[in-house]
Amino acid sequence: MAISPPSAASLYDRVRRVIPPIEWPAFVDDIDAILALKRERNAVILAHNYQTPEIFHCLADIVGDSLALARKAMSVDADVIVLAGVHFMAETAKLLNPGKTVLIPDPGAGCSLADAITASDVRLMRQRYPGVPVVTYVNTSAAVKAESDICCTSGNALAIVESLGAPRVIMLPDEYLAKNIAAQTQVDIIAWKGHCEVHERFTPADIRELREAHPGVTVLAHPECPPEVVAEADFAGSTAAMSDYVGRHKPARVVLMTECSMSDNVAVEHPDVDFVRPCNLCPHMKRITLANIRTALEENRHIVTIDPDVAERARQAVERMLAI
Ligand code: 13P
Ligand code: SF4
Repeated sequence: MAISPPSAASLYDRVRRVIPPIEWPAFVDDIDAILALKRERNAVILAHNYQTPEIFHCLADIVGDSLALARKAMSVDADVIVLAGVHFMAETAKLLNPGKTVLIPDPGAGCSLADAITASDVRLMRQRYPGVPVVTYVNTSAAVKAESDICCTSGNALAIVESLGAPRVIMLPDEYLAKNIAAQTQVDIIAWKGHCEVHERFTPADIRELREAHPGVTVLAHPECPPEVVAEADFAGSTAAMSDYVGRHKPARVVLMTECSMSDNVAVEHPDVDFVRPCNLCPHMKRITLANIRTALEENRHIVTIDPDVAERARQAVERMLAI
């Protein structure tokens, strides 16, 4: 018996906890069109944990944190990868699966961390600290990755830093991630001054107010938050690690000190957990919409390309990370 492909109507159940019924009809036409386009174009959608729930739960074939998206992009068999996330994630997918057409629905979906450093900044750091290995966060351009020894994500940063066996490491460009890792290792870490514009806005006072207003609340923070925020949280980890924490510990009430869609996406899976929701929107992640995913597949845009010389060197830095 042939199994009929999903339609928007059959998908609403997945998101009814976070999308009110009155809003759903506005999504239906685009969702049905995108589902049909995915079949026509032999395309898959990779969505980061910060994508809105109708993209994350109704359209994505692969979801996760930056590390999971990179790992899974490598083995995509489809002809086309649509990256519902920000530009560095699309570049990473292209680096790891160069034979595929990788589309980013809005090429302006950047990242304040990726904008915080250039390839020539990395060369200057190498001159200043000769022989010190350079660990670069994946939230950077391919050109910056190409100047680096190895990449890391928030999910594996400590393991990557310690894998090098070096007493000193340059860690670029997120100052707070670098400091949060420095607090967990004997390795001397030289940081840069980049910040995530979403996570830098959380403060320890926010956490204290939340604990007062919601006694017993469990506070999870992303390691891009300032160290004083991480110090006040119950747990800090990548977006995937926060989601796993909720699944494993099932706190009665939780707050995720991170981007807003994350709570929606995790709440869908855990109806028994109460999510308190002060959060900050990432304006870059929010540039990805149903409308521009549809246009990306209809018009085959915007194709991600990387200069071959840069790509070769950047790929090595990402592959070294994935080997650990
Ligand atoms: P994760 O790798 O934890 O998903 O983080 C990516 C990101 O952009 C966080 O702001
Ligand atoms: Fe970049 Fe921060 Fe947005 Fe993540 S949340 S994409 S680190 S600006």
